[in-house]
Amino acid sequence: MLANKTVVLGVTGSIAAYKAADIASKLTQAGARVEAVMTDSATRFITPLTLRSITGHPVVTSMWEMASEFSIEHVALAEAADVVVIAPATANIIAHLAGGMADDMLTCTVLATKAPVIIAPAMNDNMFNNPVTRENIEKLKARGFVFVAPGYGHLASGKTGVGRLADTETVIGTIKQVLGKNGDLMDKRIVVTAGGTREPIDPVRYIGNRSSGKMGYAVASAARDRGAEVKLITTVTCLPETVGIDVVAVDTADEMEQAVKGAVKDADALIMAAAAADYKPETTAESKIKKDSASLSIGLVKTPDILAGVKGNFIKVGFAAESEDIIVNAQKKLQAKGLDLIIANDITDKDCGFGADTNKVTIIDKNGKIEDLPLMSKREVADKILDRVVGLLKGG
Ligand code: CTP
Repeated sequence: MLANKTVVLGVTGSIAAYKAADIASKLTQAGARVEAVMTDSATRFITPLTLRSITGHPVVTSMWEMASEFSIEHVALAEAADVVVIAPATANIIAHLAGGMADDMLTCTVLATKAPVIIAPAMNDNMFNNPVTRENIEKLKARGFVFVAPGYGHLASGKTGVGRLADTETVIGTIKQVLGKNGDLMDKRIVVTAGGTREPIDPVRYIGNRSSGKMGYAVASAARDRGAEVKLITTVTCLPETVGIDVVAVDTADEMEQAVKGAVKDADALIMAAAAADYKPETTAESKIKKDSASLSIGLVKTPDILAGVKGNFIKVGFAAESEDIIVNAQKKLQAKGLDLIIANDITDKDCGFGADTNKVTIIDKNGKIEDLPLMSKREVADKILDRVVGLLKGG
């Protein structure tokens, strides 16, 4: 989604300026055209040559230099930008912007652009918490600027506190969210489930499965990037980058069922990528089971079939993890669970199995149409599924 987008990356004079190189690099790798603008003090922390080498574009450091060397007028970047991102942003640049100042190339660009502006502050914790800084931030937020909250941790002053530049993933996640705001899922509410449930045997052990949650996360972030309001109900919470996604952590199939039932009330679509357990221990021991006996049997009872049981006026999408008779089995599940679409995959294929970053799926709809997709990344699969969801939401 970043391909061919012009990102104007403003860099200001913070010790975190070196992290702008990582942001520029990841954006460039994702296909974005990155135009860096550095304030004078930023050039004391990293050199323009670093950003020029990474982005492949001249770096603007002064209005005068730009007018002469690159012979474009000083608002050209403001007009070319799909989004302006200031990372790191000092208290000083925030104050200048709040005051409507246009005294260098970066403030001029921000003042002149119609593109959304994202600000990722990085500063000492006392400066960040200073009422003047807070007031400036509130002023800019009210004018539509998007802030990426700084993180907590080690600061350049040697102290620990809030003020560290948000990590690259979070900054880029925010850029995607902002760029996708008017996408084809704008104003749609999508509920996604991810990961394998854990059914407790005792306080230590559980019955689980090999689901990594990657497919569900890919669907959730793809839906976010297309403008949807996304709720992700997941057993896996360690996967990165969930900016703007409402993440609900659950453990068991029962908990997942409750969360799904609550979430679908006002949803437009439910996409069940989770591997919910089919059985759970009949009872959960209150204390840790000791290895006193020579053998141990655990009685299992069925869990609720979440997808089959959840009803309402929304698009229902299920997955079918199969190891044989893939299409026939998937079609049976589609019918039994009253689905609009089912995504069938062959779990015996190592490129598509649990934990892989790729998947090879067949999308089957309730009219019997079968769409066989080649091997692709889980993110690409997610977008293919969402293409179909968009079609269904339009009544197609
Ligand atoms: N599913 C569910 N609740 C369960 C089990 C599965 O909602 N207790 C959902 C899964 O999230 C998936 C779909 O049902 O979207 C199919 O899951 P799958 O494990 O392939 O099939 P099952 O219905 O569990 O049938 P079987 O294990 O016998 O193949």
